[in-house]
Amino acid sequence: MSSIYSATVTAPVNIATLKYWGKRDTVLNLPTNSSISVTLSQDDLCTTTTASAGPDFTKDHLWLNGVDQEIEGSKRLEACFRELRKLRRALEDEKRAQGDETVVPLSAFKLHIVSENNFPTAAGLASSAAGFAAFVSAIAKLFELPQSATDLSILARQGSGSACRSLFGGFVAWNMGSEADGSDSSAECIAPREHWPEIRAAILVASADKKDTSSTNGMQITVKESSLFKERVDNVVPKRFEEMKKAILAKDFESFAELTMRDSNQFHAVCLDSYPPIFYMNDTSHAAVRVVEEINKQAGHLIAAYTFDAGPNCVIYYLEENEQQVLGPLKSVLGKLTGWNKKEKISPFVPTGFE
Ligand code: PMV
Repeated sequence: MSSIYSATVTAPVNIATLKYWGKRDTVLNLPTNSSISVTLSQDDLCTTTTASAGPDFTKDHLWLNGVDQEIEGSKRLEACFRELRKLRRALEDEKRAQGDETVVPLSAFKLHIVSENNFPTAAGLASSAAGFAAFVSAIAKLFELPQSATDLSILARQGSGSACRSLFGGFVAWNMGSEADGSDSSAECIAPREHWPEIRAAILVASADKKDTSSTNGMQITVKESSLFKERVDNVVPKRFEEMKKAILAKDFESFAELTMRDSNQFHAVCLDSYPPIFYMNDTSHAAVRVVEEINKQAGHLIAAYTFDAGPNCVIYYLEENEQQVLGPLKSVLGKLTGWNKKEKISPFVPTGFE
């Protein structure tokens, strides 16, 4: 019987505090603005992926939560497979050139990928970010690639833009870059988790349903139709990007909170300014915004910050010392709603195999 080679990794979700919304190149997933995120711990929200290769495999396969996915025709998956195989081939050539004839020709074998999310898929909880980060990391580990996390982030980005940020733990920036081939559009760690260990994130699952408008479609409509979008990209985000990095480095929660909430609001405003309009937040989301406003009002300063991705689910950032003050009112007002049960700690993360 011929051998099968395997590697497994777990990748985390990241939640943007400065949103990526808009592509300047839809094939390479090059963004119209730089973005910032926080990587959440893997305990509750993560994707675990096993990549296997064998000489007897006849076709590339990807099973996501047990369902066989269509690979042919998925430009993003094909791009990731192609680029990773290219890197492995270069490694094999290099080893052979050094006289190593034992190197296994993994680049020529078909791959079987098995991926499981332990949370709702495509419900605005960054499932594609963890998914593509795990996908790229698992194959890179199987291929024993020497590339850095930043190099791999360029590949993960081609799968799903926000996935590039899930290659790092802590506080992460995705620099939009300026090269046409995307070679400088990659992620980097702004500060590791240990820099600001007091930060926490609570997640309100307002709905676990699949979203109506995918982020790819939503972005295309916004870029084409929203006039507010141009203002955001040209005049708002570049400044906010620097301010948010500064707030994180200075551990200035109030600035971080205000920038996070303003950015979430503006992202949903450009969605609404699209034509036809895109609605990601629902009544539960709006109720959560009001509760956070009330919590901050009672405290006399900002102790909680909400943010919403392309879905109705809410992530609330706060400092550990304010946990009771933040979670108490949220639970009493929103506790009766289905799904309100997740309290997630943020913790350092590097996908297994890249530590
Ligand atoms: O990476 P995508 O194509 O799933 O887009 C993600 C978009 C947002 O989650 C709304 C924002 C972000 O920066 O993660």
